[in-house]
Amino acid sequence: MKLNKEYKEITKDILENENYLTLKDDIHHGSSRYEHCKRVSYLSYLVSKLLKGNASEAAISGLLHDFFHGNASTCEEVSYVKHPLVSVNNAKKYFHINENEESIIKTHMYHYALLKDKFPFINKREKVNSKEYKPQSKDGYIVCACDLAVSIYETLIFKARYKTCIYILFAINLIIK
Ligand SMILES: [Fe+2]
Ligand SMILES: [Fe+2]
Repeated sequence: MKLNKEYKEITKDILENENYLTLKDDIHHGSSRYEHCKRVSYLSYLVSKLLKGNASEAAISGLLHDFFHGNASTCEEVSYVKHPLVSVNNAKKYFHINENEESIIKTHMYHYALLKDKFPFINKREKVNSKEYKPQSKDGYIVCACDLAVSIYETLIFKARYKTCIYILFAINLIIK
């Protein structure tokens, strides 16, 4: 398929980079951060094509939006608020990204900033100014929305698998009793 071929061409250098491949070792929503970033990237690329954005920038920013190691929910240095900047620094260290791609990566947690605005009791330790996280381009909103959609999908799948395992273990326990 033409789109698939074009997407592979755009992302090949990043996906084959040895530093980027280390994301395969990081767990993210029940799978690896490498898989998460690939999902966000491809979905952003398709949506950007549909909405006549810059699909190449959406694909690249999608791949690099979570280019960090550690757990955002437990590690202060890569917290929900700080990890976009860590990702930008890593992206610049290993790849050439333009200003728009940098801005898209920096603002991809806008959904979280908005949530914190409405419910400030969530994760009280971290203060967020949602204006600083407001996307500056159409593709900024696309990557932010796709990240949220993919995260919800991955979390639901993970929970469903987890529940299935618990039920199977429970059933086995009943049978061998
Ligand atoms: Fe993120
Ligand atoms: Fe993400």
